[in-house]
Amino acid sequence: MASFLQLLFLTVSIHTISITALSSTNNTGICSSNNTIFDPSTHKLVSQCSDHTFCSAPINGMCIPRLCRRDEFPFGYGPSEAPPPLCPQGFFCPDDGSGCLPLVSVGAPCEPNRDEQCSPPLDWQDLASFQNYNGSICLKSTCMCVKVWLSSLMHCVLRQVTCRYANITLGQNCIVDNTTYTDTGPNGEQYMFTVTRDNCRSPQFYCDPGSSACQRAKAVGVACQLDSECEERNCNSAKVCVEPPETPLRVAPWQWGLTIGSILAAMVVICILLTLIHRRHRYARYKELQEYYHDQIGYVSSISAPSYQWAHQERT
Ligand SMILES: *[C@@H]1O[C@H](CO)[C@@H](O)[C@H](O)[C@H]1NC(C)=O
Ligand SMILES: *[C@@H]1O[C@H](CO)[C@@H](O)[C@H](O)[C@H]1NC(C)=O
Ligand SMILES: *[C@@H]1O[C@H](CO)[C@@H](O)[C@H](O)[C@H]1NC(C)=O
Ligand SMILES: *[C@@H]1O[C@H](CO)[C@@H](O)[C@H](O)[C@H]1NC(C)=O
Ligand SMILES: *[C@@H]1O[C@H](CO)[C@@H](O)[C@H](O)[C@H]1NC(C)=O
Repeated sequence: MASFLQLLFLTVSIHTISITALSSTNNTGICSSNNTIFDPSTHKLVSQCSDHTFCSAPINGMCIPRLCRRDEFPFGYGPSEAPPPLCPQGFFCPDDGSGCLPLVSVGAPCEPNRDEQCSPPLDWQDLASFQNYNGSICLKSTCMCVKVWLSSLMHCVLRQVTCRYANITLGQNCIVDNTTYTDTGPNGEQYMFTVTRDNCRSPQFYCDPGSSACQRAKAVGVACQLDSECEERNCNSAKVCVEPPETPLRVAPWQWGLTIGSILAAMVVICILLTLIHRRHRYARYKELQEYYHDQIGYVSSISAPSYQWAHQERT
């Protein structure tokens, strides 16, 4: 057991050392592009050249400045550094930035997790979804199994990553591609994260790993085992398909009705209140005017009444 652990430790250390040696920057100087690998834990391309350069030849090449970039803001370039150009429509920039290449046709090799390197199918509008790029997907091929000579053993190898159309429907054979990413936490603990992708038509179907056939994806609320089984690609810890946390809030029709009804009711109540207040003011003003005229009439009659009496007395 101890020797096994020792061996394991040694293997891990050698692996770590080789990755570290490869990933250190080597701006000028000799390199070999056949030493360029994908880091097995992060799946990032690691070469003997820096983030600004690529290796020009498989053996005894030179690290020369990159000719293209795949991202708007490429990794390793400062704000003042001019990055290489993006590729025009119908072309892609490979991970090492060695120059734009035309899109890859279905069945031809592509770089892992680079669905946009594949040329789209004719009916790309029907097949496009969040699980692919314009209906194309870059996946590992099925196991290619060969019978080992003069024995009953089968030797299986995973063929290289190739472009596929996400066009497989219910019950047909499909390909499952698991990619495990490993990251180290602050205390040195290892986190594993597996992304499962397939070439079934999405989001209607998913590839069942047991039968390798496309099955109908499960709606929200149905029991599940894996994220990929759900239409929303989210199976929670209680093993039920749920909407992912980033789903925008959907307002139910009754909530719309209640909100609009409350606003209308508030407007009607305000109108009624204003009418009542106005009517009360008008009544108060009417009362005031009425009192004024009443007083005026009273005053006028109190002046005119004695003069009439006086005139009456004059005549007699
Ligand atoms: C740069 O590349 C050369 C040729 O492969 C290699 O011998 C050397 O160790 C590399 N330097 C670094 C710092 O990785
Ligand atoms: C790179 O090429 C050399 C010479 O052909 C070969 O010996 C070596 O195994 C190759 N390395 C890789 C990683 O393929
Ligand atoms: C593919 O997708 C891109 C971006 O989503 C879009 O601009 C383009 O028109 C689509 N179709 C093709 C055939 O490339
Ligand atoms: C999916 O696309 C491939 C490549 O064009 C084609 O050979 C295959 O028949 C298609 N499958 C379905 C089910 O349409
Ligand atoms: C992919 O992962 C799923 C779930 O962990 C597993 O059931 C399946 O066998 C895996 N398939 C391959 C090809 O590794």
